[in-house]
Amino acid sequence: MTTAAPAVAHAPGGLPLLGHVHHMLTGPREFFTSLRDLGDLVTVRLGPMRAYVLNNPAHVHQILTKDVRKLDKGLAYEKSAPFLGNGLLNSTEPQHMTHRRIVQPAFHTRRIAAYADQMRETAEQRSAGWSDGATVEFDDEIHAYAVSVVCRALFSTDLGDTVAAEVEETFPVLLKGVARRIAMPFGPLEKLPTPGNRRFERARQRLDKALTDVIAAYQERGAKDGDLMALLLAARSHGEGCPGLTDQQVHDEAMALFLGGVETARDVLAWACHLISTHPQVQRRLAAEIDRVLGGRPVTHADLPELRYTHAVLTEVLRQYPPGWLLTRRTVTEVELGPHRIPAGSDVLFSLHALQHDPAVYPDPERFDPDRWTGGSAVPVPRISFLPFGAGNRGCIGEPFAWEEMTVFLAVVLARFSLHPLPGYRVRPSRSTMYAPKRVPLIVRDREADPTH
Ligand code: HEM
Repeated sequence: MTTAAPAVAHAPGGLPLLGHVHHMLTGPREFFTSLRDLGDLVTVRLGPMRAYVLNNPAHVHQILTKDVRKLDKGLAYEKSAPFLGNGLLNSTEPQHMTHRRIVQPAFHTRRIAAYADQMRETAEQRSAGWSDGATVEFDDEIHAYAVSVVCRALFSTDLGDTVAAEVEETFPVLLKGVARRIAMPFGPLEKLPTPGNRRFERARQRLDKALTDVIAAYQERGAKDGDLMALLLAARSHGEGCPGLTDQQVHDEAMALFLGGVETARDVLAWACHLISTHPQVQRRLAAEIDRVLGGRPVTHADLPELRYTHAVLTEVLRQYPPGWLLTRRTVTEVELGPHRIPAGSDVLFSLHALQHDPAVYPDPERFDPDRWTGGSAVPVPRISFLPFGAGNRGCIGEPFAWEEMTVFLAVVLARFSLHPLPGYRVRPSRSTMYAPKRVPLIVRDREADPTH
């Protein structure tokens, strides 16, 4: 005799027609966290769309690592497709794996070590103009830094700076548009000539043209060995066992690396700087570690393994503020999760934020505590409960790059400055698709002039 699967709970508080859209617009992370206690599987309704929310980390891990052929990327990527095209972030197999193999060498340790010097230089350039006591808009500074390091890795020439300026201006508009489209997935609304849709379309066209122009200019100048664009273009011209990339595919892969690489690292670093400024003890330990390891010389790739506390601080930021906090998938065939069967064609959502704030795994989850990661904890965190970079064949290809750029930035800035919150200002999350802070204005003090640090 077969036993019936337990009923799947439906999230409470839905409105006629809109379903749970209002929760997505007003407090999406809190909404998903509130669903955690309703069971392993919960359904929500976003306008006309019904989706399954996964609350069990083992199920999340299963679909990311074992059932990869049974699911596509789903809603978030579909809504980004108008500007993202069909690169690594949202392409399907077999194209995805072929292209991933082409791009992968750019993220090998040897290449990452070479990027470290560019990253240090960029961080030094950005912070060179900061003076003791100045208020620095860290969100802007870090955004410019993150755009610049990805563009330089992609194009490794001044062309990187040209496209960086466009990315910096257009991305916030595009991401805001995507956030709206995910929260309210009513297709026809996206086509109306509303001011928001027009802004989205203008930004899309502008970024598209900037990237097309810069790729053409890059080709004219000739590829530079080792940068990402050279890899993409080499795959295009020679084939060598790969079907070869079309111009559009080269364009789309570059766009995927921008989208994957820029906002994510920017958000984590911006939250990190905010949290460091509000936790003086953490800041003192970081500064002491950086002084001890670097002894006043510039940071290099070889220093990273020694910057253990810095690593723990960034890990804790990634736990509390995973930038891509809501991942989406769509089943292409039926998927079995424990006793439940999810039919083909279903939207599936899971919140890394809820997963990484589970009090059963992370006691006092709202507390910022880098010591969770310094080896002192009696019970190690299970791998499946910490997924800021995703997992499996769609896991983040840029993870080593991200660690490098985040660590280098903190090492450069904290070697010279201490960070302090701006009195009277409260840092808040923005309404972006990502978990991003709105503004992070901080007062920087020259450490030589600030005896407390
Ligand atoms: C702290 C920084 C970063 C975080 C937290 C992050 C997070 C993630 C996550 C969660 C995914 C998986 C998405 C999913 O399964 O739906 C992903 C994929 C991806 N990321 Fe990152 N990322 C970061 C930095 C970067 C960087 C620096 C790059 C490139 C320069 C990058 C490029 C990509 C690409 C291309 C994918 C798609 C991989 C594939 O499907 O094969 N990311 N990232």
